[in-house]
Amino acid sequence: MQGISIRSVSRHFGSVRALDKVSLDVAAGEFVALVGPSGCGKSTLMRIVAGIESADAGSLSIGSRDVSALRAAERNVAMVFQNYALYPHLTVSENIAVPLAMRRLSALERLPLIGHMMPGLSQKRAAIATDVLQAAQSLGLDALLDRKPGQLSGGQRQRVALARAIVRHPDAFLMDEPLSNLDAALRVQTRREIVEIHRRVGAATLYVTHDQSEALTMADRVAVMQAGQILQVSSPEAIYHDPQDIRVATFIGSPRINLISAAANAAGHVHIAGKSSGLQATPGPVTIAIRPENLRIESNGIPCVAKVSNFSGKACCFMRAIAPVMKPLSYGFRQKCRARMTVR
Ligand SMILES: Nc1ncnc2c1ncn2[C@@H]1O[C@H](COP(=O)(O)OP(=O)(O)OP(=O)(O)O)[C@@H](O)[C@H]1O
Ligand SMILES: [Mg+2]
Repeated sequence: MQGISIRSVSRHFGSVRALDKVSLDVAAGEFVALVGPSGCGKSTLMRIVAGIESADAGSLSIGSRDVSALRAAERNVAMVFQNYALYPHLTVSENIAVPLAMRRLSALERLPLIGHMMPGLSQKRAAIATDVLQAAQSLGLDALLDRKPGQLSGGQRQRVALARAIVRHPDAFLMDEPLSNLDAALRVQTRREIVEIHRRVGAATLYVTHDQSEALTMADRVAVMQAGQILQVSSPEAIYHDPQDIRVATFIGSPRINLISAAANAAGHVHIAGKSSGLQATPGPVTIAIRPENLRIESNGIPCVAKVSNFSGKACCFMRAIAPVMKPLSYGFRQKCRARMTVR
């Protein structure tokens, strides 16, 4: 099994700094999710790892091989995109077989009429058919092998794209928002399937998503990216409970973390609205970040006004289940709640 090692990779497009000395390791068999706002450089990094975009600086290894100078076809990485990029005129079976045919058959053998005259072709084709069936079965596609992509649902098409990626046993998987075309229910199901495939195949996986809950639930580690830089790479629990950067704290978590301006006095005691919070900090202005689910309404808490209250149903229970977040807070709200209820 092979890991991916990205070292100080930079990439500019004119005056746009898409990647600024990005370093990231994905260990053999590890699943790392890359999250960050639109335009922060996620796809650029994926394209550079895949070999379909070049870096201005930095290096890249897969296993012990430095692949920086290798073409995409020589890197043995599989990439799954948001738009499945299936060939519409080929059947499911033929679509899954494409990467194997490209690797195992010569240009002549791939030709429809002349190819059949080449010696040994039928054995090669039989071996490809066996591998295609195995990949299709592992994704529950065996009943759909003769259909064309136009006759499939979005989820089925995405599974074909996944089957086509796993069929050639790549050293690494790169997935760029592979589920964003699917509806919510299908997304959750396919998410589970991707995690199962990853466990089974065991290849290092770099997975780009906008959806932080996807990142937190699927990945061994989460890399949070902003403006071409990786701010933090940690376990989902550490990213949520112990963000190292205020930008990570505000990006991860829904509803967003509350930021409160306060001050620490000469003795280092932090006061909010003139009341002691029980927290300690270096004297001077401080920002206190509190996850919404950690705020409680208490009769003698710190007086404040709730401007927005979101009913988040199960999501809220889920968030509590993985709490406590930040440090447990002993102060709470005075019940002066002029809340606007937003039901999702
Ligand atoms: N070929 C290109 N030419 C010029 N600018 C580009 C090119 N490709 C990407 N960029 C710019 O580089 C930055 C990073 O783009 P990238 O596609 O990597 O973002 P992203 O994080 O994948 O965003 P999204 O979440 O919207 O997919 C953006 O500002 C984008 O406009
Ligand atoms: Mg992108």
